[in-house]
Order: sequence, then C-alpha cells, then structure tokens
Amino acid sequence: MAEKVLVIDFGGQYNQLIARRIREQKVYAEIKNYDKITVEEIKKTGYKGIVFTGGPNSVYDEKSPHFDPEVLNLGIPVLGICYGHQLTAYMAGGKVGPAGSSGEYGKVKLFVSDNVLFDGVPSESVCWMSHFDSVLTLPEGYKVIAKTEKCPCAAMVNEEKKIYSVQFHPEVTHTEYGKTILSNFIFKVCGCSGDWEIGDFVKSAIKEYKTRLGGKKVLCALSGGVDSAVAAVLLHKAIGRNLICVFVDHGLLRKNEGDSVEETFGNKFNMNLIRVNAEDRFLGKLKGVTEPERKRKIIGEEFIRVFEEEGRKIGKVDYLVQGTIYPDVIESGRGDASTIKSHHNVGGLPSVIDFEEIIEPLRYLFKDEVRAAGEELGIPKEIVWRQPFPGPGLAVRLIGELTKDKLDVLRDADAIFREEVEKSEIRPYANQYFAVLTDTKSVGVMGDARTYGYTIALRSVTTDDFMTADWTRIPFDVLERASSRITNEVKGVNRVVYDITSKPPATVEWE
Ligand code: XMP
Repeated sequence: MAEKVLVIDFGGQYNQLIARRIREQKVYAEIKNYDKITVEEIKKTGYKGIVFTGGPNSVYDEKSPHFDPEVLNLGIPVLGICYGHQLTAYMAGGKVGPAGSSGEYGKVKLFVSDNVLFDGVPSESVCWMSHFDSVLTLPEGYKVIAKTEKCPCAAMVNEEKKIYSVQFHPEVTHTEYGKTILSNFIFKVCGCSGDWEIGDFVKSAIKEYKTRLGGKKVLCALSGGVDSAVAAVLLHKAIGRNLICVFVDHGLLRKNEGDSVEETFGNKFNMNLIRVNAEDRFLGKLKGVTEPERKRKIIGEEFIRVFEEEGRKIGKVDYLVQGTIYPDVIESGRGDASTIKSHHNVGGLPSVIDFEEIIEPLRYLFKDEVRAAGEELGIPKEIVWRQPFPGPGLAVRLIGELTKDKLDVLRDADAIFREEVEKSEIRPYANQYFAVLTDTKSVGVMGDARTYGYTIALRSVTTDDFMTADWTRIPFDVLERASSRITNEVKGVNRVVYDITSKPPATVEWE
C-alpha cells in the first residue's frame, strides 16, 4: 500500500470520523493510539502525513496523553486538531491554559487568513468548537492563521516544517468548510494523490492470504451478516476448499435465517460449509441470565468453544477467521475510546484458545468499505446491503431471560416489522430496523376478554456509521400496519410501541 496518513489518537470522540473523512477522499488513513506507535515506527512506515486527534484532557496535566516531540522534526506534515492543536503548541514550546471562564462550545464564527490550509474557505465561515483550554502563547516559528471572537489562535502554522493545527473540528459536518480544510491538508500540504481504491485492498488481501495461508487449514465463523460473508468470500478466493466455514446456529437468529445462510453459502457459493445446530446448548448456558454483559460474554465464549470442537472434528486447524471491523475494534477499547459494549467478536474472546492465530481481514475497514469490498468480490447485493445484525443476535433484543417461546414471539414480530419497512418508501432511510421484546407485560382487551401480554418495541435508526444515530421518522401508516399485524398475528403480544430515542443517549440495540 503506497500512501498512508497516520491518525494519532488521543482519546477524542471523533477519532474514527477523522480517518473516515480522509479515506472518503481516497487516501488510506489508519488510527493508532498515542501509546501504540513510536517515532521510529512512524519513520519506518513512511507516512505522508500525521493527524493528532482531539481528546478530553488538558496538555498541562501530567497524566494527560503526550507524544515524543521528535514527531515534529520528521519532515512529515502534521495537522493537530483540538487537543492535538494544543499538544502541538505545547510540544513546540508554546503555552496552553484555560480559555477564560467559559471556553467555546458549538457553532462559532471562524475568521481565516490567506493560507494553503484554507484555500477555498471564505474569510468568514462557521466552525465547530469544543474546548476549555486554548493556545495562549505561540511557539517560536509559528503564526496564527485563524481566529474566532473568543479564541485568538484558532489555527496556527509553522510553514517551514509544514506543521498545522486547528482548535476547531474540521471532521464534523457542522464545520462548513471542514472537508475542504482536510482535503487541503492531505493533497496540498502532504502531496497525497488520492488513488486508494477498495479494489486495491481486496486484491492485496487475497494475494497476501494466498501466500501466508497456502497449504494451511483455516476455519471461518460465518454468521450470514455482511462482515463475516465478506471475510469468508475473500478468504475463499485466496485458499478455496482449505477454508472451512462453520456456521453456528445459536438459536438467536431471525426468522428463517439459518436456512437461508446454508442455501446461499453452501449451495450457491459452493463453500466448504458446516452448519452446527446449537440452539439447546446456547439456551442452556443462558438459562436464568438477565444481565446484558453476561449474556454477551456467555455467547462469545460459547461460540469459541463450538468452533474449537468443530476444529477438532475437522482435524488440525491453523487459523480462525473473524469478520471484526474497525468500529468493533475501537468500540471494544482496543483503540482509545473507552469500552462501550463488549462486541462478542472481540471483547468476549477467551484468553486460551486452540488456534494458532485469529485472522481479521476486515479489521481496518469501516462498514461502507466492507460493503464496497463485498461488491468487488461479487457477493449478491441483497447480502452486501443487508442491515447489520449483532453477533449475539436476538439475545440483545430480548430483555430479561431468554426462552425459546419468547424468542419465537420476537422472531415473528421482527419479521413482520421488517417486511412492512421493506415494502415502504422509508426503507432507504432506515439503516437498521428490528423489534425488541421488552419483557414487560401489560393489560389489554381482545374481543370481550382481558389479555395480559408482551409489549413489543419497534426500533429503527438512521445513521451513517452507527456511532451516532437518529431514530427514523417512519410514517404513521407503516407503524400502524406493523402494530396491527403484530398484535393480530403474533400470539402473546397485545401492545406495540416505537422507540424514539437517538444514540446517544441510547444505543441502537437495547442491550
Ligand atoms: P449499539 O447498540 O452499540 O450498536 O449502538 C451499534 C451497531 O453495532 C451492532 N452491534 C453489534 N455487532 N456484535 C456485533 O457484531 C455485537 O456484540 C454488537 N452489539 C451491537 C448493532 O447492531 C449496531 O449496528
């Protein structure tokens, strides 16, 4: 891979967004934690540019994340953002301190001067600020290139060293010319050419795995979701029948899902596929368990055990493939953002496993890039564009203890809701839509009789990246049809509600 930009992560909530914005411009960007990469490694890799992300700390606090100031002398262009701006000033010998009594938060007027970083940016525009500290004294060799009413150094530059930094967040859409500013940095300052294509990734991954895994047996955990499907097809292209796909039907799948996975991958793609029906085993382990994180951990561990057992039956297996993608890695605390939920394919992994190594071919790709890779690999559109489905399946959509009966209720309600959304015009705006069994019962009336039945919650979100999400404005008539069908067709349900919470403060899944 030729051109790369390094994003050094200091714990900011927008760290992924920065990498995405750069990749959107066809330049490969990778995120590394500030304590997971050294100046020596940076030199060796030969990055075209470096971005320092924001972060919640104060640079003058001893415990705050710092970096070797040598990074500013490598001759590689740097762009510091927010905390990264203050850190740049601090490392270069400037002074950082509280920005007066209040700091700046939200949309703020930005005044820029003539500089390559601001090519195409009007002298007055709107930027997004979120800071308490400010650069109070500039380091030697630096000059101010932007300000706001409250912030005299909203951007600075050392032209000779090509070191730029901005107090505001160019990566968020609220900064009117954020995209232009990032693009000026990567193309005009770093000199990137912008020729990175997903096809390059696919080709080089297939080539790499052909060499690396030649003659080895590889076991793949296929779930039927986009991520594992893309990982499996990619590996299948590299090593053919030496890839054995094990599809564990944990009994927590959606209606008819197990059969359709078998049909697509086993029959249509002609992969080496083993389907394990492990419903009883999973439900047995989950009996009496109500705590969400425990459910996830149990499912994650049981998955691995099943794979180990299958591996033993198959004979010697050298590697295990998983469809982990970039946001899973970062959300599970392997990046710098704190752990939000333990995604089963990372967080729940037991420390002792029987495989030599886990291979995660998609661990550096964002969801949209995984889909693009899927199309490149010739995977049918209905799989590539399928809505995401979590590894722990319906377990995170059924509050309280899991039982087969409750799961069947949820499956039926979910199938109806999905069908109604798919028939409607709102479908392109609904990125993930499903039913939740709330485990709450309430009183209703049917015919002349009193009922006491379950409440189903319907959830649909509109989002680009699932890091933040809005609830989908599903038309009332679609909700009405779903509600009426669910209460009529699904035994045991007498109430349907619609979840109108965004993420944050809620998450997409209920558990
Ligand atoms: P949350 O609920 O964290 O969901 O807002 C964000 C996205 O991640 C999916 N998700 C998971 N995917 N294993 C997965 O593979 C998991 O454990 C898991 N938990 C949540 C969720 O469906 C949504 O798309």
